[in-house]
Amino acid sequence: MSKIVIIGAQWGDEGKGKIVDRLAPDMDAVVRFQGGHNAGHTVSAGGRTYKLKLIPSGILHKNKICLVGNGVVLDPREFCGEMDALSAEGLDLSPRRLKISRKCHLILPYHQALDQAREASKAGARIGTTGRGIGPCYEDKAARVGIRACDLEDFDLLRRKITETLKEKNTLLTSLYGQKNLDPETLIAELKPVAARLAPYLTDVSEELSAVESRGGSILFEGAQGAHLDIDHGTYPYVTSSSTVAGNAAAGAGIAPSRLHRVIGIAKAYTTRVGSGAFPTELTGETGKYIQEKGAEVGTVTGRKRRCGWLDAVILRETVRLCGVNDFALTKLDVLSGLPEVKICTEYVYRGRRINYPPQAENGPAEVEPVYESLPGWQEDLSAARAFSDLPEAARNFVARVETLTDVPVSMISVGANREQTVMRRSVPHPAPSAV
Ligand code: IMP
Repeated sequence: MSKIVIIGAQWGDEGKGKIVDRLAPDMDAVVRFQGGHNAGHTVSAGGRTYKLKLIPSGILHKNKICLVGNGVVLDPREFCGEMDALSAEGLDLSPRRLKISRKCHLILPYHQALDQAREASKAGARIGTTGRGIGPCYEDKAARVGIRACDLEDFDLLRRKITETLKEKNTLLTSLYGQKNLDPETLIAELKPVAARLAPYLTDVSEELSAVESRGGSILFEGAQGAHLDIDHGTYPYVTSSSTVAGNAAAGAGIAPSRLHRVIGIAKAYTTRVGSGAFPTELTGETGKYIQEKGAEVGTVTGRKRRCGWLDAVILRETVRLCGVNDFALTKLDVLSGLPEVKICTEYVYRGRRINYPPQAENGPAEVEPVYESLPGWQEDLSAARAFSDLPEAARNFVARVETLTDVPVSMISVGANREQTVMRRSVPHPAPSAV
C-alpha cells in the first residue's frame, strides 16, 4: 500500500494526466485535492484521447475509486458536462466509484462573471486567468461566504446564501464592471436539476480515503497546475488561487500528512507557461516556435498557445525543496529531438549577483537573467524508446544532467502522448523509507 502525491514541478501542463494514468493500475483510488476546471489533463489511450478537467484521471481505469477532495473548487454544471462526455465514451461514472467531497466549494456563474470582468478591466496588467471563476470562488471560501456541495442538500440554506451573496456580487458586477445583474431565483432554479444529479455522488472524502487505507489500498493524489503557480510560493500575483504544492494533498483531500509516502514531480524536458508572469528561460524566437509546434503546446482548457523555453533547473530545485520530490517524471523528451543543442538554466543573475533560487520580490523573477549550460542535442526520433538504453547518448546525458542539477532521480521518461510511450527506469509506486 502506498500514498503517492503527483505534482507539477513547473507552471502547469507538465503532462500529469498521462503519468497518473500510467500509475493508476497499481492504485485503488485517485483523488484530486486542489484547483478546478482550470486544469486540463489530456490522456491518450487505446487510440482515443480523453480530455479531463475535474474528474480524476483514474476514471479511465476500471474499478478505481475517483475522488474529488475538499480542496477542489467544483463547477457543478461543468462536472455534469464532463460526466456526460465520459459516459458517451463508455466509461463507468457511477457513484460507486466517483465521489465528491461535501466540503468542496462550488463555482457558480457569478464567480465566472467576476473573473472575466476583472481580467477585462485590467487591460495591460492581466493575470491571464483561464476565466473559469477559480479565483473568485477561492476568495469566497476564504471570506467564509462560499457555497459548498453540501449546500445542494439543503435548498432553504442554499437560497438564503445565494440571495445574500448576490447582493454584493451584483453591486460589483453592475456598478464597477458594467455587467448584467444576476437573478438569485434563476440561479437557484438552474441548480435544482444539477443538485439532484450530484446528490448520489456527495460523500465524506476523508472517510472514504481512510476506508481505502484500512483495506490496505494505495492512493494517488493528483495535483493540478504546478508548484510555481502556487498561491504562496509561485510567481505571485501571476499564480492560481490554490495551493499547488505537495503539502496541500493532505489538507485538500482530508488525510494526515504523516500518511503520505512519496512525491513524484512531473517536469517537462523544457518549460512552458500560459498566461502572464515571469518566465526567465522563455524563448521568443525560432527555437521557441519549434518547441511550441512540435510539442503541440496549446492549452487544453483555453486553447491559448503556451509560451515555451528551456528547462529551468532553478525552479525545479525550488520545487524539490517545497514539495520534497522523491522522483521526477520527465515528459516530452521526444520534443527536443532535432535541435543542434539543448540548454538547461542552472542559475540566475539577479541585480549583478549569481543566485540559485527565484527571488521573492514581486518583480524579481522578471528581472533575472538565466545562466545556461549547453548540451549536445540529438536528432533521433525517441517515440519508440521503452528502455533507458533505447535513448541516444545525448538524450541520456541530458537526463543525467537533470538528475545531477536537482539531486533527484528521473524515474520515468515520457516520449510520446500514448500510455505505452513511457520509459520506466524503476518501479515508483512504493513507499519511500521515510514519510514526507
Ligand atoms: P486561474 O487558475 O484561472 O485563476 O489562472 C491563474 C493563472 O494560472 C493563469 O496564468 C493561468 O494560465 C494559470 N493556470 C491555471 N490553470 C492552469 C493549468 O492547468 N495549466 C497551466 N496554467 C494554468
